[in-house]
Amino acid sequence: MVGAPSRRLLLAQAAALAGAALTPAAWTSALAQTRLAAYPFRAGIASGEPLSDGVVLWTRLVTDPKAMDAGMTRAPVQVRWEIAEDEGLKRTVARGERMAVAEAGHSVHVEVGGLRPDREYWYRFTAGGHASPLGRTRTAPRPDADVSKLRLAYGSCQKYESGFYAAHRALAAERPDLVLFLGDYIYEKAASDAGVRRHPEVACLDLASYRQRYAWYKADADLQAAHAAAPWMVMWDDHEVSNDYGNDQDRSPTPPAEFLKRRAAAYQAYYENMPLRRLAKPVGPQMQLYRALRWGRLARLAVVDDRQYRDRRTCDELSRGKMIPAACPARTDPDRSLLGAGQEAWLQRELRQTGARWNLLGQQTLMAEVIAPDGRVSNDGWDGYAQTRRRVLEGWRDAKTSNPVVLGGDVHTFFAADLAFEPGGKPVASEFVGGSIASLGRSKEIVQGMLAIQPDLKFGDGDTRGYGVVEITPKACEVTFRGVENALVQGSPVRDLAKFVVEDGEAGMKRA
Ligand SMILES: [Fe+2]
Repeated sequence: MVGAPSRRLLLAQAAALAGAALTPAAWTSALAQTRLAAYPFRAGIASGEPLSDGVVLWTRLVTDPKAMDAGMTRAPVQVRWEIAEDEGLKRTVARGERMAVAEAGHSVHVEVGGLRPDREYWYRFTAGGHASPLGRTRTAPRPDADVSKLRLAYGSCQKYESGFYAAHRALAAERPDLVLFLGDYIYEKAASDAGVRRHPEVACLDLASYRQRYAWYKADADLQAAHAAAPWMVMWDDHEVSNDYGNDQDRSPTPPAEFLKRRAAAYQAYYENMPLRRLAKPVGPQMQLYRALRWGRLARLAVVDDRQYRDRRTCDELSRGKMIPAACPARTDPDRSLLGAGQEAWLQRELRQTGARWNLLGQQTLMAEVIAPDGRVSNDGWDGYAQTRRRVLEGWRDAKTSNPVVLGGDVHTFFAADLAFEPGGKPVASEFVGGSIASLGRSKEIVQGMLAIQPDLKFGDGDTRGYGVVEITPKACEVTFRGVENALVQGSPVRDLAKFVVEDGEAGMKRA
């Protein structure tokens, strides 16, 4: 409960307000406000970006997730946070206050430091006389620590209208060390009647409508449970902005300058709604999201942004949807990049300098080459930028990167594939695409066709929604695909679909 403000608190509030560059008039309104009539944690809480000594705590005050203004006035609201070593919040190790301001969609990002490595913590927010649910989080091990295990759950593509989040409910119950979310957290289009539930009527085009979309999705109890169960590492894909967008281009086509305004609004809303560090805070339409996380000597996870920096699409004039002829010369032009020169240079440094035994690459889609029987490939991912994929594979080979394993999303289908320079060649790495939380996948026919054509694709299932679990020890990386029985039913049970293992020092997967 929030009582009368102490002098120390008033000073802290003044400092927070000074940081947020508010006028003295806004101070008065903030300080006068002690209670909120409605419960303000309807978008839940989250943590993310674990380091060995800290983690980010996040919340966004929302009293009405369906309202365009989230049910909030323009007034700043004081939010308190606390983090403890026990679930009862008795052994508190840090606490503080922040102002949630309208300019930031009433979001709060707290970078907590000074924590102990490799252990669980529990946290909670209070605001306006209300307490948030309790969240569990954990820190990473020390960078030089010998770690015996990492258990990571990963998912992507949670189109609200297409299904319930039974996958999130099951994922939360697993209490993994870390959750990796690989994009399509929201879908930006206007509502349709075809789904099992409705999202907002209007398409996301400006900051207010993107903010509303996040609040609407985040009101889901199963999604909130998944956030409260473990720290997340997040990467976006296209639908956080616009379907199949790349750089300053959407599918329409919208003039680039106009599209970049939309991208800036979408990136701002993304930042506000995710447990990210200040480093990721967007500046106009730019937001640096690619980064790496270390889990002792055992594992390093690099996540790449394949949307913001990619060269423009190619062979559009020959395309059918996103499918272009594989023979399109620009597809294999070494001057074109899916990641952009800066990010590619960073990734090459990462895979040379990592001292970790297992090197995970989180990226948005299926990395293996797939040429359809009619000689076409998608120009929306790695196949549209074949030399970027080759450079990553060469990087792993030349740097002798230890045990590269790729995790993916976007295609709404579970895939397991080995990655080689030529189809059927010696594997350099293996990849596991973790299906989709809710979005509808590819038909059995298409998936079976892909498996028949591409010998490196070892498994595919587009009919089942779900997520992946990666268990890493010094000896092996085991990946389990968990499938929801029926995502059209709330709380549907989850079962194991398939299990694979990659052994230390041996590229290529085996069925487990
Ligand atoms: Fe998707």
